[in-house]
Amino acid sequence: MNFQLTEEHLAVQKAARDFAQTELLPGVIERDTHQQFPHEQIKKMGELGFMGMMVDPKYNGGGMDTISYVLAMEEISKIDASASVVMSVNNSLVCWGLEKFGTEEQKEKYLKRLAKGEIIGAFCLSEPEAGSDATSQRTTAEDKGDYYLLNGTKNWITNGGTASVYLVMAQTHPEKRHKGINALIVEKGMPGFVVGKKEDKMGIRGSDTHSLMFTDVKVPKANRIGEDGFGFTFAMSTLNGGRIGIAAQALGIASGAYELALKYAKERKAFGHYLAEHQAIQFKLAEMATKIDAARLLVWHAAYLKDQGQNFVKAAAQAKLYASEIAQEVTTEAVQIHGGYGYVKEYHVERLMRDAKITQIYEGTSEIQKMVISRELLRA
Ligand code: CAA
Repeated sequence: MNFQLTEEHLAVQKAARDFAQTELLPGVIERDTHQQFPHEQIKKMGELGFMGMMVDPKYNGGGMDTISYVLAMEEISKIDASASVVMSVNNSLVCWGLEKFGTEEQKEKYLKRLAKGEIIGAFCLSEPEAGSDATSQRTTAEDKGDYYLLNGTKNWITNGGTASVYLVMAQTHPEKRHKGINALIVEKGMPGFVVGKKEDKMGIRGSDTHSLMFTDVKVPKANRIGEDGFGFTFAMSTLNGGRIGIAAQALGIASGAYELALKYAKERKAFGHYLAEHQAIQFKLAEMATKIDAARLLVWHAAYLKDQGQNFVKAAAQAKLYASEIAQEVTTEAVQIHGGYGYVKEYHVERLMRDAKITQIYEGTSEIQKMVISRELLRA
């Protein structure tokens, strides 16, 4: 593995950093406070190519590698994790899943617009009684010949209100358990599809998370992804890559908080000295930086394996597990270094601390990552 970033990687990193500073930073506190979705910002991210970074240019994507993607995710997450989760779901779960497993027709119809950021996608696996236990899907997709009749409820769906295209997992053959699940492309506006309540969340408050209700929604057979019963494998394969994106998000939240703490420690005086001159603060900064660097190595390693076409399941779960754990620790320390200022919104670190928590929960909790890692270890 080469640790030297190419000119192209550095250019992507800089573009994402500049965009985050100029377009995301202004207003990030207000969007968080009022739970406002970053519509304008996401539109610009689409124009800059951040919404379909790894998609083949023939489907309007950026044709970039996963390393470029995690570099951009880190920079955007340093400033606005609400914007970066929209980006992550669209890139890793929706675009990647459609490009890898969709038909040519589906790619023409949906992927081309998703990759440009003209429309946004959502990935719908979780249910009120099937979060971590994803094989227990209660949503049904009854085979009616030319179409599936979709019934059920999905919960905690990122981009739930703003998406136009939804990849929905539903059970067609309950007797086959997870091998009976299908992945269907559902469009907003299909009769019987209702977007439910928006969740009032602790963090990533600028992103919109909804429940979704499906009542006798007729989904054409042409909208099924893969063979009959491929839905669970589709979801798991897609989530493997998604976990690299969320690991990069956690890394960005941690490094954003660290950079703010470092700056503050050099500016703020206590007991006649800058905070940075106190060994207690120096040790905190040293620990934070070491954890961040270790997390970055795991994230890059997972991205590298994926780019090489090698098995990256364990590496992705390890990166997500570790980066999300240290995001909690580093953001908490960043608040501590800021003292009272850290507890108020103006200084950003309290938001980053709240945002960090979700990275231990979505796209598989830390406990799920440990299951995935240990199964891979035992299989070897
Ligand atoms: N990659 C590929 N295939 C996998 C896999 C993986 N990581 N994990 C499991 N599978 C396959 C297994 O090989 C098995 O296939 P076969 O039957 O063909 O051998 C099948 O899936 C079932 O696996 P298990 O018997 O191990 O099933 P399980 O019920 O014991 O556990 C699980 C599976 C790993 C716990 C899985 O349910 C899981 O990952 N749960 C977490 C789901 C999740 O991440 N939800 C997040 C929601 S999406 C989200 O958050 C998006 C968002 O909006 C931000």
